[in-house]
Amino acid sequence: MNFRLMAAAAASVLALAATANADEALTNASTLRALGAQVRLRIGTAANPTTLGDAALSQIIADQFSVLTPENDMKWQVVEPTQGNFNWTGADNLVNFAEQHGQLVRGHTLMWHNQLPNWLTQGVSGGTISASQLRDLLRQHIATEVGRYRGKIWQWDVVNELLADANPSQIRPNDFWVSNLGPGIVADAFRWAHAADPEALLCYNDYNIAGEDGSNAKHNAAVALIKSLQAEKAPIDCVGDQGHLDLQFGFNQILMTQDLQEFASLGLKVAITEADVRTFVETTDTNQSPVVSPTDPTPSHTADAAATDWYIGMLQSCLIVKACISFTVWGFADSHSWVPGTFKGEGDADLYDVNLNPKPQFTGLQQTLLLARGAPNRGRLRDGDRDHDGDDHD
Ligand code: XIL
Repeated sequence: MNFRLMAAAAASVLALAATANADEALTNASTLRALGAQVRLRIGTAANPTTLGDAALSQIIADQFSVLTPENDMKWQVVEPTQGNFNWTGADNLVNFAEQHGQLVRGHTLMWHNQLPNWLTQGVSGGTISASQLRDLLRQHIATEVGRYRGKIWQWDVVNELLADANPSQIRPNDFWVSNLGPGIVADAFRWAHAADPEALLCYNDYNIAGEDGSNAKHNAAVALIKSLQAEKAPIDCVGDQGHLDLQFGFNQILMTQDLQEFASLGLKVAITEADVRTFVETTDTNQSPVVSPTDPTPSHTADAAATDWYIGMLQSCLIVKACISFTVWGFADSHSWVPGTFKGEGDADLYDVNLNPKPQFTGLQQTLLLARGAPNRGRLRDGDRDHDGDDHD
């Protein structure tokens, strides 16, 4: 046997050993990114300067996740706080961190009605920025930001939260961009982003567009929006469903699967981009113990189980739909979550508790990823099959 054959043989023995190891039982140490990699799914989190700058939190980010989204640091308000003065510190740090840890980046977000700089919104309302100037400013903003990170961003949330929370839903009539520039601006935003980075996957991102509103109204509006963008030949590649769930509302897991499938049938990739599952919490402690309702402040042991079920349901929908390329949580620790600051009395929304201990929500995702990898190995039951040895024949 020559050296090359020996090396190849050794490599295949090693590969077999690795496969055998991978087949071993789940351990608490199995990371989400490693488990996701085995089923071609990137597991992501939002990150910010605080979480990236803290030793314990950044260790979890590096270990558990294979794609990062800047929670705020690529928003217009942050990158250009005063006109012509740019601050790329947070965004650069996140992109560098991702590069150092073998992670991809989801860029977030280019055209949105929220977190715009005051100079821009006040300029428009005060009449010092005309419609044609506003259009130029958006084109310039997209060219500058997408161009700066050209080749470094996997997916861009080009347009965020354009659709109304109504039944039927449609583009928000008072959306800052559409009301000032007309609906054609949506396709233009995609075109400008594509020109600045032809490799990046360009996404439409929104919440409640995979059935979470109960009526599917926003989903239907999203499908209509995508079809109209495709008719205008806008370069749209993917749809992000944010996945911000709340235990006080319903969640239909089958509908989410069907809705993601429908986006995929339009030729798009899909992603879960901001998953979390919030509920009411005890206000008298800092541990975010879940309660049944604000009026019954008794800690609830069923709330974490319900939240775990919904996290698993979202991940399952993504795993079932082949076009689903990433599953991202909007922060991973209750100690550093946007939820308590945004939804009064709510919390307990994340995978880790305030002391950075993994919760059942975390374990549920591990087990689901492991199931996704292991399921095809079980073979199938045939008529008359009585053996339980796991292969296809008796
Ligand atoms: C949130 C951030 O988490 C907060 O820190 C910030 O104060 C407000 O924005 N949908 C989105 C995200 O697309 O950008 C939002 O992030 C959460 C809802």
